Amino acid sequence: SFQHFDIQPVAGRIGAEILGVDLSADLSKDIISEIRQALIQYKVIFFRRQQLDAEGQVNFARRFGEVTTAHPTVPSLEGHPEILDLDYGRTAARANTWHTDVTFVDRPPLGSILRAIEIPPAGGDTIWANSVTAYQDLPSHLQTLADQLWAVHSNAYDYAEAAVNISEELKAYRAVFTSTVYETLHPVVRVHPESGEHGLFIGGFVRQIRGLSTTESDDIIRLLQSYVTRPENTVRWRWQVGDLAFWDNRATQHYAIADYGNQPRRVQRVTLVGDLPVGIDG
Ligand code: SIN
Repeated sequence: SFQHFDIQPVAGRIGAEILGVDLSADLSKDIISEIRQALIQYKVIFFRRQQLDAEGQVNFARRFGEVTTAHPTVPSLEGHPEILDLDYGRTAARANTWHTDVTFVDRPPLGSILRAIEIPPAGGDTIWANSVTAYQDLPSHLQTLADQLWAVHSNAYDYAEAAVNISEELKAYRAVFTSTVYETLHPVVRVHPESGEHGLFIGGFVRQIRGLSTTESDDIIRLLQSYVTRPENTVRWRWQVGDLAFWDNRATQHYAIADYGNQPRRVQRVTLVGDLPVGIDG
């Protein structure tokens, strides 16, 4: 239970709005620890129409751990290395996929905090999926199979496809990035370091299940992923300017819906440093 704020679930299995907290205020340790508890429980939490600026967003994030500086694919906001400036169509490609952030490194982020700067009049919502309930939904035979698998995660995807309709500025930035290929191995079932829950840890950067042929691997990834993205496991957020979403990157995937044509959409993300994913065998 929460003493310092009201909480309103947004969907049945993931997502809750926190009401009555002004994030620009000097928040006590107790409030921060309750917000963290809500994050672990609901996996993505929302704060409507806050008055935070870039510095306020970074300061809020720092209350939850170390913040990353610089992302391999997206430029930082000038003067703020901790802030990813996702200005779709300008600094970020609109095409999207279901993903967990930056899983192609050994220690993927703990979580991210996204702030809405400019939002189209309709469209541009973001969807999050609960990878713990996805795992729980698997028939037990498939759980047993998934428990034993490890997957290669890599940033090497089809850049030719992703590069359609992006600016020259973005192309140049990406060219630097594409010359560095990151690759790592993670357990397909991850034990959450705070809740102990088991969840499917896959998403858009998974290339291949270790020890399987490409065909078998693709089929199994598709099957597991279909459980993650079932509508029952998701929550969809209709953004307003000033909103903050804070997600647990260890227990979710997300997808930014590109349904707003060429209208501007700009959000800014601060990312928290995470730890080494641990499978069920430790
Ligand atoms: C992200 O993938 O971190 C950004 C999601 C969004 O633009 O809504």
